[in-house]
Amino acid sequence: MKVIRAKTAGFCFGVKRAVDTVYEQVKTCGGPIYTYGPIIHNEEVVKDLEAKGVRVLRTEEELDAVEEGTVIIRSHGVEKRICDKLEGKGIRVVDATCPFVKKIHNIVRRESALGSYILIIGNPDHPEVRGIRGWAGENSAVISSAEDIDKVDFGKNRKICVVSQTTFNYNKFKDLVEIIKKKSYDISVLNTICSATRERQTEAQSIAETVDAMIVIGDKHSSNTQKLFEICRKACNNTYYIQTLGDLELNQLGSVETVGITAGASTPNNIIEEVQNNVRIIF
Ligand code: F3S
Repeated sequence: MKVIRAKTAGFCFGVKRAVDTVYEQVKTCGGPIYTYGPIIHNEEVVKDLEAKGVRVLRTEEELDAVEEGTVIIRSHGVEKRICDKLEGKGIRVVDATCPFVKKIHNIVRRESALGSYILIIGNPDHPEVRGIRGWAGENSAVISSAEDIDKVDFGKNRKICVVSQTTFNYNKFKDLVEIIKKKSYDISVLNTICSATRERQTEAQSIAETVDAMIVIGDKHSSNTQKLFEICRKACNNTYYIQTLGDLELNQLGSVETVGITAGASTPNNIIEEVQNNVRIIF
């Protein structure tokens, strides 16, 4: 039987970098280690890190209470205010903000200082978006729908700079930009959507189109894994959504010749490998 594993399965560059950073800190730094928010939305990884002494700070109050040690900023990044606060506390900070997100921070900070109004296309409740807004200053707004645009007061003859949450849907981004363009004459649009999600989805679809069965691995609550599952299911009826190898044993199938495997952005490599190594026995 042939097993095809997607090259883009699992962690993207930024998440891998952040998770590796925490493990590296565990090995090299003494004193308490904290991550500001879970480093990744995967219980197994967070539990493993907790067992190694890494504590998750879930609120800003918890962050305020930290008096010593190392605070690691996750790939989503944080507001400038939080960076300033940490600096003021004199605490050791390890910044694992994804460089693609950091680039957006730098853009909005610069453009805002030059007098532009910053429009962020994205989900206002997402930590990445809150972080970006925190670098954009007062003259900024987050929009996620056409209705939101009507609520924004751009000011007269103002330059507008548009950026996007890295995981925003490209088609929706394009549609919103078209509407914004009609509102202002001086607008600069920077497509800051990261290609990692799209590449993972495209590869998953092309594999699912050619195999007899497809396995999608990821946390049940992970929205990007759910999306991957939908895409694969459309291309291959015989698609299975599992969290770990254990789930697959429940879904024993008939004999198949080719099996494809992909995984969501928060699925660790060891889980993917375990499935990959055992799939021949199960099917
Ligand atoms: Fe991942 Fe960074 Fe892109 S965290 S999705 S590589 S913006």
